[in-house]
Amino acid sequence: PPVLPVSSLSNHLQVSTQRLMRDLTRLGFKNVSPSYLLTFEYSSLIAEEYGYRVHTDSTSVASPQKPKSSQANAPLRPPVVTLMGHVDHGKTTLLDALRKSSVAASEHGGITQKIGAFTVPFDKGSKSITFLDTPGHMAFEAMRKRGANIADIVVLVVAGDDGVKPQTVEAIKHIQSADAPVIIAITKCDRPGLQPRKVIEQLMNYGIQAEEFGGDTQVVSVSGKTGSGVDELEAAILTLAEILEVRSSPKDQLEGWVVESCVAKGVGSLATIVVKQGTLSSGNFLIAGNSWGKVRSLLDVNNKRVKQVIPGQAAQVLGWKELPKAGDHVFQVKNESAAKEVLADIARRNGAQELYQLAESHNKQLEEQR
Ligand code: GTP
Ligand code: MG
Repeated sequence: PPVLPVSSLSNHLQVSTQRLMRDLTRLGFKNVSPSYLLTFEYSSLIAEEYGYRVHTDSTSVASPQKPKSSQANAPLRPPVVTLMGHVDHGKTTLLDALRKSSVAASEHGGITQKIGAFTVPFDKGSKSITFLDTPGHMAFEAMRKRGANIADIVVLVVAGDDGVKPQTVEAIKHIQSADAPVIIAITKCDRPGLQPRKVIEQLMNYGIQAEEFGGDTQVVSVSGKTGSGVDELEAAILTLAEILEVRSSPKDQLEGWVVESCVAKGVGSLATIVVKQGTLSSGNFLIAGNSWGKVRSLLDVNNKRVKQVIPGQAAQVLGWKELPKAGDHVFQVKNESAAKEVLADIARRNGAQELYQLAESHNKQLEEQR
């Protein structure tokens, strides 16, 4: 079990070492010095004395929920679909083709650097899909991981002329660990001499079995440039969403995820949230990670002001006390005082977790010195 010197604990609890030593002596510890080692159990008891609540099970973090059977009667909702793949393989161009717009052209250096969320209507607006675009650049692994976790379905984009590359493999790892259903889009099929079959064979080495080889993964050849195959891809997504029965009731408890956040000039802290369950409304009190806010206004992905956001859609939310982080879990509380209470509890839990990590790393150092 990890141990911690008094000096580190005092630092962590933000009390003076003198005071902590005095208190320890009062509690019956003998010959206390700043380097006196406390077991984690003692450290936690003492932390509690100072008003910290210590849960050792606090390491479990919230993660997106798969549809529950209790939602069987809930209405279908738009699927949240994340595009993933190696850098420059054509994700943003494909998304542009799907939403008949142009983002790729306006990107700095043609490289996506954040998760973009777009809700695209299909079938004359009777159906829609919310797409999350992710960057393929090596540096943005955390975003890809998040994208896979939030998704109902992942579209893995592989350029037909380049095949499976390092971030393709990395994306597959995240897809598999998130247990996300996947569709393969082989892009740039307008280019001559493409061999989609080769890509399919490469993917088999990573456990992805195409339908035409007796597996259950749909593979669609597309071109974001000419638009060929884009309708088939859209149909493949909608079919899979139906099979998966992506459902959730607008009356459920709100659950969402922050996909990106920033401080916008003249507007303040702004977070893009994907609602997976329940309804997000103006005036709601929300917790996101370590921040809370009262929803001052909601903007849809086209920057249009809306009153409500239903499950399966994304929106930009204003009204945060502090900027939430991408990846934060979002839920609703009754009012301001409930928000503060929940956050205080979260802070205490984080404190306990840090304490544990501190003790563990101290232990490691001791072992290395031996
Ligand atoms: P990152 O976001 O940086 O990972 O890149 P991306 O996967 O979004 O690729 P992007 O859509 O920005 O396209 C990269 C380059 O490939 C651009 O020059 C596109 O014009 C080109 N490209 C994308 N799709 C196609 C396609 O279907 N056909 C052809 N010929 N070129 C394409
Ligand atoms: Mg891109």
